[in-house]
Amino acid sequence: MEAAHLAAWIIARLVRRKPQAVLGLATGTTPLATYAELVRMQQRGEVDLRRIVTFNLDEFVGLDENHRCSFHRYMKTHLFDPIGLPRRQIHIPPALASDVPAACHAYEMSIAAAGGIDLQLLGIGRDGHIGFNEPTSSLASRTRIKTLAASTVMAQQAVFGDDPVPRHVITMGIGTIRDARHCVLVATGTHKADAVARTVEGPVSAMVPASALQHHPQTTIIVDGEAAAKLTLQDYYRSVFANKPDWQKN
Ligand code: F6R
Repeated sequence: MEAAHLAAWIIARLVRRKPQAVLGLATGTTPLATYAELVRMQQRGEVDLRRIVTFNLDEFVGLDENHRCSFHRYMKTHLFDPIGLPRRQIHIPPALASDVPAACHAYEMSIAAAGGIDLQLLGIGRDGHIGFNEPTSSLASRTRIKTLAASTVMAQQAVFGDDPVPRHVITMGIGTIRDARHCVLVATGTHKADAVARTVEGPVSAMVPASALQHHPQTTIIVDGEAAAKLTLQDYYRSVFANKPDWQKN
């Protein structure tokens, strides 16, 4: 099964068990295929996503939901509108707040009020960021404003075209992400191989924010062959997957 489809399958499995599941969601190139597959699954009647509650990881400061490059717009286009998700079940970090710390605190409170995040979908940056927790982010951080690293701005420029990429985002912190009951990180392509190897097999370090997931009790890392290329224990991971006991398979 393709990486993106496996992530969709894990999400659908949760939603079948818990229709009002609280999902933490990511944007970017990686989850596009996962969202497309979820939409297809709902159209085929394999899952009903209309009762989920969502919290997005991040948003650009100053961009409203109709800006063509906002993550809110991305989510509406690729998931929320196609599955018919009611607005009241959607939460996006407060990109337009005048009192940023208070609004970020309120975002954390609304996650808690929803019962916490059941499943957090994650991508990973080349520099090892999750959400927009750039290298040296506190491993205990909560939702707050962050300044993007130059490499992240460069990656985003493809989406913004000739328009300037905002330098600031509101992002869930690493502590917020680590509170999710299940983290599912998807990485594909050669350009992610280094970050994946450092995340899974390197030391836990604020220089590689995703490595904090080593301390998480239930994280699933889904990679394709290219993103897995620099993992030294590939044979072991394959044998773990191939030899799962039946009760762990579904
Ligand atoms: C986006 C996010 C980021 C991306 C990461 C990878 O909401 O949280 O951490 O997941 O920058 O982006 P892509 O998938 O575009 O390579």
